[in-house]
Amino acid sequence: MAGPIPNASATHAQQPSTTPRISKPTLPVEEKNRVKDGEIRIEMCAIDDMPAIAEMLYTCFPDSFWDKMEPPALRDGDISTRARRLATRLSPSFHLPEMKWIKAVYAPTGTMVGVAGWMIPGMPIHNVWRRTATDFFGFEEKMKWTDADIAEMWRGVDLAEWEGHIGGNDAIRADVMGDEPHWFLAPLMTLPEYQGRGIASRLMNWAIEQADAAGGQAMYLESAPTARKVYLRFGFEPLGEANMVRRGPRKGGLGKREAAR
Ligand SMILES: CC(C)(COP(=O)(O)OP(=O)(O)OC[C@H]1O[C@@H](n2cnc3c(N)ncnc32)[C@H](O)[C@@H]1OP(=O)(O)O)[C@@H](O)C(=O)NCCC(=O)NCCS
Repeated sequence: MAGPIPNASATHAQQPSTTPRISKPTLPVEEKNRVKDGEIRIEMCAIDDMPAIAEMLYTCFPDSFWDKMEPPALRDGDISTRARRLATRLSPSFHLPEMKWIKAVYAPTGTMVGVAGWMIPGMPIHNVWRRTATDFFGFEEKMKWTDADIAEMWRGVDLAEWEGHIGGNDAIRADVMGDEPHWFLAPLMTLPEYQGRGIASRLMNWAIEQADAAGGQAMYLESAPTARKVYLRFGFEPLGEANMVRRGPRKGGLGKREAAR
């Protein structure tokens, strides 16, 4: 049986850490550590979860990810401020019918321990993280943002780097997927103290089961180098450095041992 899972109900932004955040490559789940079925619930997130989702993003993704797009020299706020701004920028995505934020809740404590952002087939290729999403999806009008609101929520961000990175990935996805309807994943994360227990698998399977039941709909994601084995495990095939595609259950589904190679 798995050991007790620590109660991580306190938010990470309330406990800012000066320890550098680094990502280590994932490891196969050891069965003794796997969360039991009744211990984890997969639920739809509500817009009220957005602040905690943003905090989790800063907790889970390494400094190397953030430092390029929110360079230390540009920052004028602590991590709580940065998380608040990111939450504001991402909140309107809850109004898009094709954007599905889901969470893994550790049932004994009600703690949100993992999150996935799934975009279902039919969503245009335009990542909701982009600065250009404000105009593309009409967020400004929908949220009644003023220019000052928009300037505040993007403070501390190197916009050229941010758009270059995320917009550049969208351009690659458009090349690879064309008009083919597909699921898109951004982001996937599990709180560090809950990793290696099969929580990301639950968040992946929520979408994979629907895609496969619909006849093997395509799925696409951009993987961090440290997370690649997770996606290989679920039958995603690498296309270049970060891009991975899954086209139905038949072609993929590497066994744990194969994925570990
Ligand atoms: C990547 C991340 C979400 C994984 O979360 P997790 O909850 O620890 O993952 P899990 O324990 O559910 O493992 C997922 C699956 O991959 C398998 N796996 C993981 N690493 C593996 C490896 N090295 N070899 C083979 N299989 C591996 C696991 O066994 C599990 O499959 P199973 O349930 O069929 O056994 C987590 O490490 C994280 O949040 N990292 C920081 C943020 C990040 O990089 N996100 C991904 C961005 S693309």
